Amino acid sequence: MWTTASKRFGLASRNSPGTGTEQTLPKPSLPFRTAKRCTDPALTGPRPPRYLRGNAVSQGETELVEVPVDSTTFRSVLGQWPSGVCVVTTIGPHGVHGMTASSFSSVSLDPPMVSVCLGNHLPSHALLGAAGRFAISFLGKDQAHIGRRFAGQDREITDRFAGLEWITTPNGCPVLADAVAWLDCRVAHAYPGGDHTIFVGEVTGAATPRVISPLLFHSRNWGQLADPLPATIRLAVDAPPPDHAGCVPDAFDPDREDDVLDTIGRLAALGLDEIVCVESETTAASPLQVRRVLQDAVVRVRPNHLRVRLNGRNRLALVNALVAMKSGVSRFDVVTADSGLAGLPIDDLLHLAHQLEVDHQLEAETGRSPGAAAGRRPEAHHRPEADRLRSELVQSRTDLAQLRE
Ligand SMILES: Cc1cc2nc3c(=O)[nH]c(=O)nc-3n(C[C@H](O)[C@H](O)[C@H](O)COP(=O)(O)O)c2cc1C
Repeated sequence: MWTTASKRFGLASRNSPGTGTEQTLPKPSLPFRTAKRCTDPALTGPRPPRYLRGNAVSQGETELVEVPVDSTTFRSVLGQWPSGVCVVTTIGPHGVHGMTASSFSSVSLDPPMVSVCLGNHLPSHALLGAAGRFAISFLGKDQAHIGRRFAGQDREITDRFAGLEWITTPNGCPVLADAVAWLDCRVAHAYPGGDHTIFVGEVTGAATPRVISPLLFHSRNWGQLADPLPATIRLAVDAPPPDHAGCVPDAFDPDREDDVLDTIGRLAALGLDEIVCVESETTAASPLQVRRVLQDAVVRVRPNHLRVRLNGRNRLALVNALVAMKSGVSRFDVVTADSGLAGLPIDDLLHLAHQLEVDHQLEAETGRSPGAAAGRRPEAHHRPEADRLRSELVQSRTDLAQLRE
């Protein structure tokens, strides 16, 4: 029932007339298998209409008209599908090579396999096919410029790797040192797919070098994950200022962003149930900085929780609370008017939550008494290490304050 398809994977498909200029790759001497095509007439009989468009409406009925899909429509439909962005890299006779791709997909868990579709006319296609190995670097939200560069959109850049830090995988392929994650692959199959080839790679190595949210591509635009609001926020009322090891003081100081994120990551690695980010009592945090820190901090802390203690004395407090919610935070410290404590007034946050249709729970309702907020302490066996991390961070804040003076 099955016959082996052509050994060449640069061929035009049956549906495409071909231009006569398709690339023929060198006959692979590598141990990967090519596609098999089904020839059973029961399965390959007359094909159903391929493209139906309900665009003619008459007297309450929708007529389905068969139309050949034109490339503009096809492209605009594909543009509605959001994807991540990766750089596919390989090694050729002239050194390392890489291209931007959004056609990455996971294929199999056991054995671990992934796929990527490359245009048959591309130099990357020829190089990857000849090398029989490739690597995938997933791009982070701050790497759109790398996506553009490896798509050949920066005309003045001839060496796509110039100025970037990259390392060599065990398979000998380059990967970006600050990719969100990378995979090292050997080509296991190459299937013809119209004017592209579907390369299926067996994954032989993997790493997650940098924790940051991913870069997305949608409608020909680079983007980031949208931010749904939490369904419910949890409020700790009139908790005294936290001074225990699981709290990160002055967490939104832009000059200490790297230190703050690093400390949060290390506290999370200790397994603390909750980490508290505290806004400075003297300097109002900018919403942009709150966003930068929390968006990445939430990812580092997962599956545990991040709590935010904002300073209610500045006019940005509610904006920052909204930004925190949009960044994935759902736990806040709040204060009542007669507590004498500095912090985000509970009435303000409840009003905001009501307007946003976000439910709330006071911590007493969630099994923790409001006063118990002070008891959010790391497990005893983690305390010395958490204390050390926190005092390092406090020291870095003191050093910075002295530098500023
Ligand atoms: C966001 C984005 C995603 C892309 N995805 C793919 C893809 O999956 N497959 C492909 O063949 N080309 C894709 N391209 C186009 C290639 O990156 C581009 O043609 C590149 O120049 C190929 O490199 P090369 O000419 O060195 O082979 C994509 C481009 C962009 C901007």
